Amino acid sequence: MNQKKISIDITESFEEEITCEEIMEESTDLIEKVPANLNSYFKKVKEESEIPLETVNKTISERKKDSKSFAEKYRPKTLNEIMGQAEAIVKIKIFVANYPKKKKAMVLYGGPGTGKTTMAHAIAKAMDAEIFELNASDLRNKNKLQEVLKPAIEQKSLTKLNKIILVDEVDGICAVDRGGLSELLELISITTYPVIITANDIWKNNLSSLRQKAELVEVREINYNIIKDVLINILKKEKLSINDDVLTKIAVKANGDLRAALNDLQTASRLKDPSKFVPDERNRRTDIFNALKLVLKGKPNNDLLKVYDSVDMQIDEIFLWLEENISKEYSGLDLVRAYDLLSKADVFKGRIHKQQYWRFLVYENALLSYGISSAKKNSNCGFTSYQKPTRILKIWLSNQRNAKKKSIAQKYAKLVHVGYKRAMNEFPIIKQIIQSNPKIQQELKLEKDEIEYIVR
Ligand SMILES: Nc1ncnc2c1ncn2[C@@H]1O[C@H](COP(=O)(O)OP(=O)(O)OP(=O)(O)O)[C@@H](O)[C@H]1O
Ligand SMILES: [Mg+2]
Repeated sequence: MNQKKISIDITESFEEEITCEEIMEESTDLIEKVPANLNSYFKKVKEESEIPLETVNKTISERKKDSKSFAEKYRPKTLNEIMGQAEAIVKIKIFVANYPKKKKAMVLYGGPGTGKTTMAHAIAKAMDAEIFELNASDLRNKNKLQEVLKPAIEQKSLTKLNKIILVDEVDGICAVDRGGLSELLELISITTYPVIITANDIWKNNLSSLRQKAELVEVREINYNIIKDVLINILKKEKLSINDDVLTKIAVKANGDLRAALNDLQTASRLKDPSKFVPDERNRRTDIFNALKLVLKGKPNNDLLKVYDSVDMQIDEIFLWLEENISKEYSGLDLVRAYDLLSKADVFKGRIHKQQYWRFLVYENALLSYGISSAKKNSNCGFTSYQKPTRILKIWLSNQRNAKKKSIAQKYAKLVHVGYKRAMNEFPIIKQIIQSNPKIQQELKLEKDEIEYIVR
């Protein structure tokens, strides 16, 4: 059965309102004792999500088209206004300044809403160049291409000093068929003007020939602090005010996509009470990196109880990710507190597995989300590169533990003349008996590490 699904059911079966602090306190109590009836602990977490339908239904492409959006209104016009992309901008400047000494085309690649298209236009402005834009269908239609391209390549701009050929969203060209790519390569070989190409994913196999012909420049996801600064600036210009926590939430959830953040900001600003804004997660699958960012960088709040709902992983795996990455964000006492909470979550995890007591998932989830988030005094604002947990090592360790269980069960089965399978099945009881009785431990000739395992 899917564990995460159960966790959602439990959250929904709370009867009264409960705060995260209360869940945390209760979980600490529960670590000490196993109450006979846990039902009294389960209360209702009241959800007041005021997500306007328009936000939920909006797809990213619809967002792009929204001409009155903050994203369009505040699209930078000059290179100076582009935030968080200094490295890429330097490379673009060098490319156009040296043209055509090295490569004749440059690919700006990276996630959506990071400023690729904006940069292409801004560099054109900076060098007083006219932009000649080609889209996917232009490239696919060979005749039309010849028609538009020839003059574009041969004629000087009448009004401007220079010209730049922009092929925006090249992945669109190649997604449907290969047609267009060979034309693009030909264009690169004959052009006398710099070609700037943008793409989300340049590592697709069918783009390898393009990768060879062009200089590649990565346009990175925008740091959430920078996103937050942009949001604050826009609020000032719009004479609006939105609670700082909501801004942090929007900035973090954007996952480096400034366009998405600006759209969320706009939606939040239209609400009667912007502090109730819940960033639109139904369209954007929050991945584990995002969830880790929210927990480890963000302020603890009730929404965190749902932070792992949109992560496509079982809670045990999320546990490993946290274990692996906490030390990248926390240090000193924060780290001690976080590890303490992690160990408490581990106790619940153990009880869930041993006793099949799925209701404990509430506590495990709360400890891993709100709990770990509240373990820090200050958050680390910079970019953190989270690592995949070293799962193999963990699996090995868990096998090692199982190996001890097996060897003890074997010894027990031999001594009391029962089957090995039965000893494994009854292991929890056997463990209890052996635990409190050193004489039996001797009789079974348990090794030191086996005793350690059994009394743990
Ligand atoms: N680095 C940035 N600095 C300031 N604003 C930005 C930046 N990146 C994106 N934006 C904002 O987001 C909007 C969208 O940016 P842009 O169209 O350049 O993204 P893109 O990288 O081309 O995305 P896509 O891959 O979806 O085409 C801009 O209009 C602007 O408001
Ligand atoms: Mg673009």
